[in-house]
Amino acid sequence: MTKRFKGIALLLVVMMFATLAAACSNNGTSGSGGSVSVGIVLPTKDEPRWVQDEQRFKDALSGTKYNTEILFSQGSSAKEKENVETLLNKGIKVLIICPQDGDAAAAAVEEAKKDGVTVISYDRLITNTDAVDYYVTFDSLAVGAAQGQYLIDHSKGSGQPLYLYAGAATDNNAFLFFQGAWEVLQPKIADGTFKIANSSEAEKLKDTKDLTRDQMSSIIGQVTTNWDPNEAKNKAQTHLTAAAADMKGDVVILAPNDGTSRSIADVFGSDSAITSYVITGQDAEQASIQYIIDGKQSMTVFKDVRTLVKDAMGMAVEVLDGKTPETTGSYNNGSADIKAKQTDVIVVDKENVKKELIDSEYYKASDFTGL
Ligand code: BGC
Repeated sequence: MTKRFKGIALLLVVMMFATLAAACSNNGTSGSGGSVSVGIVLPTKDEPRWVQDEQRFKDALSGTKYNTEILFSQGSSAKEKENVETLLNKGIKVLIICPQDGDAAAAAVEEAKKDGVTVISYDRLITNTDAVDYYVTFDSLAVGAAQGQYLIDHSKGSGQPLYLYAGAATDNNAFLFFQGAWEVLQPKIADGTFKIANSSEAEKLKDTKDLTRDQMSSIIGQVTTNWDPNEAKNKAQTHLTAAAADMKGDVVILAPNDGTSRSIADVFGSDSAITSYVITGQDAEQASIQYIIDGKQSMTVFKDVRTLVKDAMGMAVEVLDGKTPETTGSYNNGSADIKAKQTDVIVVDKENVKKELIDSEYYKASDFTGL
């Protein structure tokens, strides 16, 4: 190597490090600068689901020219609004936001819209505002329907106790999941396959297949977990303490997601009067995959976050390129029809866990024991 060449090589290495350092100094930022400026706001780091999304965003963005920043709202709508303002001050052109509370997020996105920013509601719909341009989501009705159908397909005889649990009433998805499940479960309650164990409001509505939002609210109000595993655990304990002997034995449990499913399963699993239980979930969280392998959780609904991230970022890039993103339908958010891109979901249980989650490289076999 000549001296001059060595000098140039050294300069290049220094420049490379300078670029890397600049990229890393911006907290939560991926990419090494460039024309795209996208702000991403996620609900909380306390649930593995959203840490999964963060990781998938980072994976999708590594090595691209897109300049993005991911902020977490830690379960607080005030923090969420502050995050949006921070990103607006940084000049973002597109905001990808998963609201902590669908209604409360309206004020934050209205501010973004005023700044000319394109707003993409991510996974959860922001409600009762027209300041949302697009919605990228999984088919949440199908998630609930798959959970309900799994309980039906794995029921034993008739008159089996059915325990219902739901997500947070501040999350529009909680209604979609519940509605999807109820529509398939209700005929099986009406024909005596299942008897409701823990909700007097659901019991009152047991002959109504198509529930209004208010009717769903009355049930969710009783059986909400608020998406909090601890709250789910406390509720399950209370329900089992109150349950008469004929509400025990072989039972089925509608649990809305993996985090709550594991804690409800722990409670039911340690009650000696529960002979067997079938319990649902969703998100394919790593801990729940281990529970499924161990026979402690029956199923999960796999929502491939890689697809959601790809769709959301694809949309953002199209907007930045001045194009109109492709959508597949729309969702009414109480104020407007929001153009939406929707992704299918996959039911996973012990039978297909390896095929769907390991062979698809979502997880590594070494992440689990007893596979
Ligand atoms: C998401 C689920 C998640 C739940 C709790 C829902 O809006 O769609 O995947 O488990 O929120 O965070």
